Amino acid sequence: PGWDYYEIQAAPVTPVAYWVAPGTTAPAGTEWLGLRDPVTAAPLYTPVWGYGQIGAGPLGRDVVTYPSMGIRATKGTPVKVKWVNNLPDQHLFCPQPLNANWPCAIDRTLMGTKLTGSMLGAPGGGQYGGPQQPDNAMVVHLHGGEIPPEADGFAELWFGNPTTAALYSPTALPIDPPLSIAATGTPLTMTRPTGNSMIYNYPMVQEAGMIWFHDHALGKTRINVVAGPAGFFQINDANEPTTLPSGKYEINVAFQDRAFNLPQPTAPNIATINYPNGMNQAIAAPLVPQQTPLTPGGNATVHPQWVPEYFGDTPIINGMAWPVLNVEPRKYRFHFLDGSNARCWALQRSDGKTFTQIGKDGSYLPAPVAVTKLLMCSGERHDVIMDFTALAVGTKVYLTNNAPAPFPKGALPSNNDVGKPLMFKVVPLTAPDTSVIPTSFASAIPAIRNQPAVVTRELVLNEVLDAVTLYPLRVQIDGKPFEGAITETPKKGTIEIWKIINTTGDLHPIHTHLVQHQVISRQVFDTAGYSAATGFAVPGNTTFTKLPITPYLKSAPRGPDINEQGYADTTKSWPGEVLTIIAKWDGRWDTTVSDPASAAVPQAPAFLAVTSGPYVWHCHIVDHEDNEMMRPVVVQP
Ligand code: C2O
Ligand code: CU
Repeated sequence: PGWDYYEIQAAPVTPVAYWVAPGTTAPAGTEWLGLRDPVTAAPLYTPVWGYGQIGAGPLGRDVVTYPSMGIRATKGTPVKVKWVNNLPDQHLFCPQPLNANWPCAIDRTLMGTKLTGSMLGAPGGGQYGGPQQPDNAMVVHLHGGEIPPEADGFAELWFGNPTTAALYSPTALPIDPPLSIAATGTPLTMTRPTGNSMIYNYPMVQEAGMIWFHDHALGKTRINVVAGPAGFFQINDANEPTTLPSGKYEINVAFQDRAFNLPQPTAPNIATINYPNGMNQAIAAPLVPQQTPLTPGGNATVHPQWVPEYFGDTPIINGMAWPVLNVEPRKYRFHFLDGSNARCWALQRSDGKTFTQIGKDGSYLPAPVAVTKLLMCSGERHDVIMDFTALAVGTKVYLTNNAPAPFPKGALPSNNDVGKPLMFKVVPLTAPDTSVIPTSFASAIPAIRNQPAVVTRELVLNEVLDAVTLYPLRVQIDGKPFEGAITETPKKGTIEIWKIINTTGDLHPIHTHLVQHQVISRQVFDTAGYSAATGFAVPGNTTFTKLPITPYLKSAPRGPDINEQGYADTTKSWPGEVLTIIAKWDGRWDTTVSDPASAAVPQAPAFLAVTSGPYVWHCHIVDHEDNEMMRPVVVQP
């Protein structure tokens, strides 16, 4: 009583998921065909994983889907979810037996999956001689949620399916790699969960907004996200305007990209997802079998085998390739999510009209703004109104995308791939549009942009490049690995300013767990000068001398973008720029939520040797997050 309760399993989607909407017939002569066999034009199907409600439950169904079921919550009514791992023993992208057309995408030289340290000799054995982390390990993070640490889906607190839970967790095992706090040396004595499920309590004390959930397992988030499981989590509250488009006129849209393998003779209707085992290989061409892989099954010594960014050539929008959405000539509200691993989307309407943006990430903007081009990078959400009023029935409006990949200096998309991800087709109006966009939005969280901070941190994003090949070996924060002693230890309830110094050539979407932040400014800096003096971004270099950034700043600070006036949980850090953000490190659930029923159900283990943590902050290019561009955060008393 008093809680919304769900039991949700991660499992393969059955029957095989569709990339093409069921019953869709492509209009003759159009390019909107979904994913089809290039020769026979038959629809192709793709095995994926998803999340789904166990039993009837409040959702009234028991099916695992991709895209996954969503959760609708109300501020003030906490949500409790039992997350269950019912995945198969083998990973979708590491099938057995391995073959040249479908290699194992797990890189066993990355953190978490690494065969080093205390993992050697860990119980379980496993297929590869004993990594502690089983291939089907998962842990769920509610992205944008203001939640207690034991429910945050900390990357090291993964758990396996029933088979591997029995093998790998006969008793609770310490986390690996171990973590400690830099200033004091205090170790974080946490043990990994046993069993194949965890119950997470989400207090729902935050404002209305669209947050989302996805896997966060250490060293494997990127391949688990491409495998499918992710869902929307909408929070509503009593302060929200009631006049916005709603019901069937309010639609969640997840933008992702995938590459596919050609159907094999034994399975002519199946196009599997192409997930390369990198080893310095470019992703295979569309619908072409995987190029000769490295050692099938992975190689424990050559680092890295990961692909620095996963880019697919096919836009997958809510699980479908190049879908068509029928719209009435009226206003719609869309919650756009960039759920891709690494791709930014720069979306424009083909008819030149603007978007009216009313929210970003998990909160409303103070006032609506008109946006011509909507730039969205991994993890970000844009809450927008699109107006189709007065368009004639039959009119087609496209969303076009001209964001290069990698962003911002890579190749431009074309109309034949991710350059035209979504089509709207106007159908007759069924009822008058009475929706109204308010001129401002009340926020329960005051702007902190101009408040004083007790601590200002300078945090450097850098790539560690191979001195000879210039291939990125890993990406880092402050030259430290994920497991390096914890330095981001804000005091509870205090305000901190973080300056993110991007010495790389890529944009990195920076995501803070626990807190929403505000953008203060961006400033161009002398990247070459700073890199020469500090050693960051110098090929082959692995030792760094951190120096104050101020002498290297080259431009006056530029304020936040017009659609960054509210709060965000994920913000773009542009190459060659210093991004300054501000956040208040509080945990508002402490006094507002208690759960008298929790003793009756298995709880997340009480692992806290410190007040509140660990959380993480990281680059939301999930390929980067998997290869060290992530750091723990502990909130101190
Ligand atoms: Cu959406 Cu830590 O991630
Ligand atoms: Cu990054």
